[in-house]
Amino acid sequence: MNEKRNSFSGSLGFVLAAAGSAVGLGNIWRFPYLAAKDGGGLFLAMYIFLALTFGFTLLTTEVAIGRKTKQSPLTAYKKLSKKWGFLGIIACVIPMIILPYYCAIGGWVLKYFITFLGKSGAAAAATDGFFTGFITSQTEPIVLMLIFIAVTSAVIYLGVNKGIESFSKILMPILILLVLGIAVFSITINYTDAAGVTRTGWEGLKIYVIPNFKGMTVKGFFTVLLDAMGQLFYSLSVAMGIMIAYGSYVKDSDNLVKSINQIEIFDTIVAFLAGVMIIPAVFVFQGREGMAASGPSLMFVSLPKVFAEMGSMGRFVGCLFFAMVLFAALTSSISIMEAIVSSLIDRFKWSRAKAVFVELIIVIIGGLAVCFGYNIWYFDMTLPNGTVGQILDVMDYVSNNILMPVVAIGTCILIGWILKPKTVIEEATKNGEKFGREKLYTVMIKYITPVLLLILLLKALGVITFI
Ligand code: ALA
Repeated sequence: MNEKRNSFSGSLGFVLAAAGSAVGLGNIWRFPYLAAKDGGGLFLAMYIFLALTFGFTLLTTEVAIGRKTKQSPLTAYKKLSKKWGFLGIIACVIPMIILPYYCAIGGWVLKYFITFLGKSGAAAAATDGFFTGFITSQTEPIVLMLIFIAVTSAVIYLGVNKGIESFSKILMPILILLVLGIAVFSITINYTDAAGVTRTGWEGLKIYVIPNFKGMTVKGFFTVLLDAMGQLFYSLSVAMGIMIAYGSYVKDSDNLVKSINQIEIFDTIVAFLAGVMIIPAVFVFQGREGMAASGPSLMFVSLPKVFAEMGSMGRFVGCLFFAMVLFAALTSSISIMEAIVSSLIDRFKWSRAKAVFVELIIVIIGGLAVCFGYNIWYFDMTLPNGTVGQILDVMDYVSNNILMPVVAIGTCILIGWILKPKTVIEEATKNGEKFGREKLYTVMIKYITPVLLLILLLKALGVITFI
């Protein structure tokens, strides 16, 4: 049975749902750590520049494809061009790979939220080995992941309006308030360490925003560029099928150009503010060394130590912080699941309930594999880009570093060279809207974006090693 295609009730519903998708673990966990690693301001400047060019191009293209075809990723490409239907298959496999590990991490966030609710939560979460002890346990990560999956599936089961749109309309304003509150708190704190050195949040903010060119090499410059590009990809939820699915629910009468601008601005501001929340706080309590040593474990290892240092405030701030991360992760996991469920509905004409059930089984099996990757199925694998990881890292590498660039390059070729950029421009401006960055879009989709993506892909495959 095929259900009638729903649509978001208006631009606000679409923008909040799409921004909810965009703002996720990528913004809060990955962006600040990359910004700290890549010399703060330079990474920020590049990220904003790329968001306005590269990100804008991919986001516009996908939302327009969705609205034009009124199909989810699996069938949208085929509707545009019979020969390019295979891109839809890859675009649907990507969220299938991402969702299990996203939900596993969602379970970790839930663990920290619950821990901080407890009386001695801040101290417990800051204990050495707390994170490793938790993820290597064989039951708790699974139970928490299943709770996270259950909430995600329930929202998807409720559908586009009652589920995704209503949920986003409630959670996104709360999320923004929490982000703003914690960011302001972070820059107003100061701390004198055992050696008598006082550090302030304001100094930490300057380290975050002012570019540091000291010792910068050409290779270093390209590393920052590619880091910013990879991050942008993930952060804007492009090349995961999501924006095609959400675009297919946008009414023909809505102003697509304006909505896309708002999503870009929303996502970039939250990513920036995530850095403001985290970097000054880590600097104040752990100094520059703390920032340098943090790496990807910033959120689960370093930050709890920062909250513990805050004394009685720590438990409260930690609770709010992990509640905020939980909301951000949920609105993103919902969008990832919708990309898959809507694809199954469109392709197989299943009911929403059946599609949710099938995907539920897939995500639980994948999620169990991710959890077991830290205990009974533990292994260390060196990936072609040089990183060493477990099952989660392998899934992240295959989806983010390989399949997403492949889909994005294919989309650029299809739209830029075969169907021509006017396909997207005409869709976006069909109510007489002004496109604004039309020339930029054309150059980006035909030349610059696919070339940059190819470099990203070749670097991930270990073919390019000089940058
Ligand atoms: N865009 C989502 C994130 O940043 C997937 O986590």
